[in-house]
Amino acid sequence: MRPTIEDTRTRLCALPKIDLHRHLEGSLRLQTLAEIAQEHEIDLPARAIKDLRPLVTVGGEEPDFHRFLEKFRVLRRFYPTREAVERITYEAVADAADDNVRYLELRFNPVALARAQGFPLEEVTRWVCRAVERAQRDHDIRANLIVQIGRDETVETAGELARVALAHRDAGVVGLDLAGDEERFPASPFKNVFRRARGEGLHVTVHAGEVGSPANVEEAIEDLQAERIGHGVRCLADPHVVELIRERNVTLEVCPTSNVQTGAVQDFWRHPLPDLLALGLRVSINTDDPSISDTTLTDEYWVAMSAMRITLEQIKRAIVTAAEASFQPREDRGRMAAWFRRELQSG
Ligand code: ADE
Ligand code: ZN
Repeated sequence: MRPTIEDTRTRLCALPKIDLHRHLEGSLRLQTLAEIAQEHEIDLPARAIKDLRPLVTVGGEEPDFHRFLEKFRVLRRFYPTREAVERITYEAVADAADDNVRYLELRFNPVALARAQGFPLEEVTRWVCRAVERAQRDHDIRANLIVQIGRDETVETAGELARVALAHRDAGVVGLDLAGDEERFPASPFKNVFRRARGEGLHVTVHAGEVGSPANVEEAIEDLQAERIGHGVRCLADPHVVELIRERNVTLEVCPTSNVQTGAVQDFWRHPLPDLLALGLRVSINTDDPSISDTTLTDEYWVAMSAMRITLEQIKRAIVTAAEASFQPREDRGRMAAWFRRELQSG
């Protein structure tokens, strides 16, 4: 008998998974947002969940990159206290574990968490690290952190964020990310900040080639020394950039639902994931912003299989690729990849 949709979904949910590209600020439970809004009397048009939903999720809206990013602006109002920051962080890790994500690299933007209240960047970073530590103790998951820098920040702020990230290496921060509007803000001003951070042992990933030109991917790899690229789906428009990705062993962090909602791709059926795999590129599958997109990693695997003709074997291969591209010391990476290979053989 052929497996039903439910059988396949159950099987995908049970797989031990890896998410390398998930934003803390895009991983907030609606119920928690409603409670924070209520408790702290946050000034909003409404505080009931059904009224909050359109403010912080994309729902059935027309695909649009800027409208997608706008949700993060609204969300900045929900970080009023240390307790709130620790709660949302703990829950983000717990929710990943509930979906059988066994290794998570959670990225967060200290400026987004800190600015409304004027918290010191050091302090919010410590809160996030502490909450991740606690969530790992309570759940079957390993998590590391990536400090995200917005493309619209000044080079001075980027430098400060890199220093904060480096100062929290012992507390689980393993890398830097550059995110935000690649159409309006080039990566090149951040070249020295990222190169210095790499030199001091942080890993680097950059959002590029999502809605912007393949040249942005080249800039991320050549100038910022990115080891991984967030999305990168537009790279196919330039064979030279495809070759660069392959040559440098760069791993793409593909996030299917986000790609449709931002307009990076037209629809799931025309998503380039099958082409990226056919070209032999290293590809991982991730969520980006589970709460904004109303998705889980299981959902992302499911949509890859059902709309893009990706096979279960290819999903498993993408999980092992993610292990190999994880921002961990070489031995840990190897050990983890071997563990996933073994577990997935029987899954
Ligand atoms: N920040 C959070 N999600 C993002 C995305 N999809 N692209 C750029 N920046 C982001
Ligand atoms: Zn992202």
